Amino acid sequence: VDFLKGVVAMSGLPPDDRAEVCFAGRSNVGKSTLINALTGRKALARASNTPGRTQEINYFTLGKSHYLVDLPGYGYANAPLAVVRKWQALLKTYLSGRASLRRAFVLVDARHGIKPVDEEIMALLDRAAVPFQCVLTKTDKIGAGSRDTVLAQVRDRLAPHPAAYPELILTSSEKGEGLATLRATIAALGAE
Ligand code: GTP
Ligand code: MG
Repeated sequence: VDFLKGVVAMSGLPPDDRAEVCFAGRSNVGKSTLINALTGRKALARASNTPGRTQEINYFTLGKSHYLVDLPGYGYANAPLAVVRKWQALLKTYLSGRASLRRAFVLVDARHGIKPVDEEIMALLDRAAVPFQCVLTKTDKIGAGSRDTVLAQVRDRLAPHPAAYPELILTSSEKGEGLATLRATIAALGAE
């Protein structure tokens, strides 16, 4: 995996000739950290404690067959409102207008479950007919009891979305849970 480029406008996107998967989710949910964990590279995608770290659409090449795309977070971000609006608009245009996007992974913090902003993105993906799969992050931060509660909530919220895959992937970038499953899922998309 290598970093290709950061994109700030649709015109900057690379040619859509590869299987592309993207990582979407609220600010601070762990998108950049998950990409680093998946690829075994500590600082490939810039991660940080500050919500709003990723402000561009960041493209990574996975071999010659795939693009991995790290998106800016939605929801709270530590940046001026005008800047946030600009990148939110780009995010929405990207999610609904990228022909080679095979699957969007919608990341949800295992401690918080699906929030109204996640529902908005999911509705947008439904309308654009982009298949999406929910990935729970930071499972190392919850106990077995809350795990069951959040799983039930997430399954319940996903059910009405026609573009949602029912299978959830539970991950911890910290402990490595779910990384093999996610890698296999991405690899299988390329083979279709
Ligand atoms: P934006 O780019 O701002 O949208 O955020 P992001 O979704 O890319 O989040 P990022 O990967 O920067 O991670 C945010 C914080 O969560 C960082 O402090 C990470 O170390 C932490 N984090 C991410 N994944 C995990 C995880 O699996 N377990 C734990 N314990 N912490 C995590
Ligand atoms: Mg990020």
